[in-house]
Amino acid sequence: MASVSVRRTFSPNPHHRSISSPSSLRTRGPTSASIPYHPPLLLRLLIFFFASGIVLGLTVFSSTYEQHPEPEPDREPVIQSDHRPDKLGMKQLNHVPEQKLIIVVTPTYNRAAQAYFLHRLAQTLCLVPPPLLWIVVETGSKTSSETASILRRSGVMYRHICCKHTSGEVKDRGVHQRNKALDLIEHHRLEGIVYFADDDNIYSLELFDRLREIRGFGTWPVAMLTHDKSKAILEGPVCKNGQVIGWHTNEKSKRLRRFHVDMSGFAFNSTMLWDPDKRVHLAWNTIRQLDTVKEGFQETTFIQQLVEDETQMEAVPSDCAKIMNWHLHLDYRDVVYPNGWHLGNNLQPVVPLKL
Ligand SMILES: *[C@@H]1O[C@H](CO)[C@@H](O)[C@H](O)[C@H]1NC(C)=O
Repeated sequence: MASVSVRRTFSPNPHHRSISSPSSLRTRGPTSASIPYHPPLLLRLLIFFFASGIVLGLTVFSSTYEQHPEPEPDREPVIQSDHRPDKLGMKQLNHVPEQKLIIVVTPTYNRAAQAYFLHRLAQTLCLVPPPLLWIVVETGSKTSSETASILRRSGVMYRHICCKHTSGEVKDRGVHQRNKALDLIEHHRLEGIVYFADDDNIYSLELFDRLREIRGFGTWPVAMLTHDKSKAILEGPVCKNGQVIGWHTNEKSKRLRRFHVDMSGFAFNSTMLWDPDKRVHLAWNTIRQLDTVKEGFQETTFIQQLVEDETQMEAVPSDCAKIMNWHLHLDYRDVVYPNGWHLGNNLQPVVPLKL
């Protein structure tokens, strides 16, 4: 890279111009053709050392600040052996821990509270240290401009897709939407921690730090409201020393469900989706949510595709004693609201000014 700029004779950059002087001296222009010019040996040596100094300097500079994943093989030994201060710099860069990618999957659909929910989630996600990819899946055959504009202004790296698959019988409308996101993750082999974050839940920032501690499959308890909203209940693992030792649940069907986890109470390494060695079961060719299961069984039937039993689960954090997100089932389905929360015309004054 540096050697290319040395050869560039007419670079507007003053540094480049000074480097290029040796070559321009050797070039014979039409006027100087009859008078060959040979600089004295000392001058040539000086120019040579000056130029090679700049070449080395630029090489060090570029590899320190641009973090080339693979430094040019012939340059690397020079940096490592000759420049002690920069060797220190390289060391520091190597010690910056590589942050894991968090892949947040959010199914969403059009209703009065959608703008409120998406803004709230976007404002949480924009505070999470990157890298984070937010995959937002809408229903219908095309994405809405209202959602697009919220996502665009969120400051979060996102992918906005839609899912037109509709089946009248689906108990949980998010199933096909989440599967659409899993298709995308698997197709592009996106490597990171996958988390299903519905738009109506509330998430603490600590949760996202904890997600980055998960290696395979992690789970934690989630706080919820009962259906009549009269009390708060917890659902999820009971843990000790990083191991799941039991479950806390309020479901009457507790005998029937294998795992008692909320959709927002677990996360997993995306490599499990396509690498059979990373999960225990080989019975499933693809890991997807099932649209045929009874209400309340969606989570457990999905998790059963990823892990065999509790020994393969990681407790998040190790004692699972912290509530990090809330699933309040607060929704406002039949509320009438202005389209896109945009006022096409002025409102009719209810209290007009007396002029
Ligand atoms: C996911 O699992 C793979 C294979 O075990 C591992 O190399 C990778 O670091 C894990 N990814 C994360 C984000 O932990």
